[in-house]
Amino acid sequence: MNTEHDGSGKVKFFDTTLRDGEQAPGYSMNIEEKVRLARQLEKLGVDVIEAGFAIASPGDAASVEAIAKAVEGPVVASLSRALVKDIDAAWAAVKAAKRPRIHTFLATSDLHLARKLKMTREQALARIADAVKYARNLCGDVEFSLEDASRTDPDYMCRAVETAIKAGATTINLPDTVGYATPAEIAAMVGNVIGRVPEAGSATISLHCHNDLGLAVANTLAGLAAGARQAECCIGGIGERAGNAALEEIVMSLRTRRDCYDLDYAIDTKEIAKTAQLLSSITGVKIAPNKPIVGRNAFAHESGIHQHGVMADAKTYEIMTPESVGVKKTALVLGKHSGQHAFSQRLRDLGYSLAKDAEDRLFASFKVLADRKKTIEDRDLVALVDMATGHAAGENDWRLDNYVVSSSNKMFSTACVTLVKAGKTATESAFGTGPVFAAIRAVEKIVKRPFSLDDYQIQAVTERRDALGEVSVKISDSTGTYRGRGVSTDIIEGSILSTLDAINRMLAGSGAALGSGAASCVQRSFEDDDLLRGRTDR
Ligand code: KIV
Ligand code: ZN
Repeated sequence: MNTEHDGSGKVKFFDTTLRDGEQAPGYSMNIEEKVRLARQLEKLGVDVIEAGFAIASPGDAASVEAIAKAVEGPVVASLSRALVKDIDAAWAAVKAAKRPRIHTFLATSDLHLARKLKMTREQALARIADAVKYARNLCGDVEFSLEDASRTDPDYMCRAVETAIKAGATTINLPDTVGYATPAEIAAMVGNVIGRVPEAGSATISLHCHNDLGLAVANTLAGLAAGARQAECCIGGIGERAGNAALEEIVMSLRTRRDCYDLDYAIDTKEIAKTAQLLSSITGVKIAPNKPIVGRNAFAHESGIHQHGVMADAKTYEIMTPESVGVKKTALVLGKHSGQHAFSQRLRDLGYSLAKDAEDRLFASFKVLADRKKTIEDRDLVALVDMATGHAAGENDWRLDNYVVSSSNKMFSTACVTLVKAGKTATESAFGTGPVFAAIRAVEKIVKRPFSLDDYQIQAVTERRDALGEVSVKISDSTGTYRGRGVSTDIIEGSILSTLDAINRMLAGSGAALGSGAASCVQRSFEDDDLLRGRTDR
């Protein structure tokens, strides 16, 4: 029996959005963004935040340390291979946390041992014992993961688990690293460890399921039903390849089907929508409309039969309420006649509490928007807040003053842009194959810092013709890769704002760069970049 040190049927939520999630392409974040997300994860009530992989790069180590200092409630963990130098780096990064954890791992399947690690089973057991003992001498909370556990021989798995616990591991994680297992196999794997390893009762058994076959959440739930008490997961199910189990799907399954699971958790489900929204606005990666729990359509009822049923009794087609995950339905429509009181109330209803001056600035932006757009929906407000709470514009940042573009299907587009910095204005004009291209070139000429435009995305925030356009860009130079966002009813303005947001981060220094591979970028200008794509027709 798994008796658990902390008793009971409480599931610990171990969030690895900032480690496994951040490893996925498109999800890299800078330190400030990681800390912001970590603070929201704390509000969400996760038990453990895996803040990064400290040995991976100085940037990773710095963000783990910053998160360790920034949050108080959750345990803060750093991943480390079963190597002294990794464990030392992990400890150096997490030791400032109120509740630090070292998370070390070694693969245990014969395939990984023979082909990747070139180790025998006995050598691996010795390495597990050494690594866990070493980590435990540094930190009272040590998790050991048997990488590729779901393809590990069950007898050998028991020996590895016993070795790790005897060496001092307090949590044993059994990952389905390649997303291969079925729910019945995961339940059997957990049952095997709990039933056959006498020491298992003194450690928390954890699951970490990948989603390659779309089974990550089902597998995690099967493991919890079989006695595991920690679920490793990511917001929105992001992560390596097809991702990890989605935190919100696991917790809402536990909540909605309490009759099946009868397990407690500390997650405040009302913070789910806001957390998913924050991740999306930080990374610029949109949430799929049909994503369970957090997608735009998750609570939308389109068909007449469904609408009729929901109007008669919401339970006919709703197994959980939008309010339970923090999605608020509103009868209040904001527009240009709305006053600050209604505006502030709506922000509070959406879960934002901003300082008075930040709220005043936001209200001014709201009024500008309301002049251009008839009704302001919650999604517009969220976009405005995300813009305002992203990179706080400093004294030395470039800001847009005005621009004029001319565009035609027969000629090059031209743009004349005026920017302001520290009270001084600068104007440049440029041409390009389109107005966005021309405007960004003019901006690049003014700031005199060549960059390459690596990604440009534009999306309407809401549906109607007067919708806000949200532009996300990624630019890079030799110092790193930088993300920027801009929101406007005018796509040229949105494009300039997002480029300036990224440029201001670039000029602020490498602390604002994304991920760790950024410094390897070759310095080339936006123009060169475009030439590389074969657009020489300027
Ligand atoms: O998928 C996996 O096995 C992992 C481990 C390092 C925990 O991410
Ligand atoms: Zn993983």
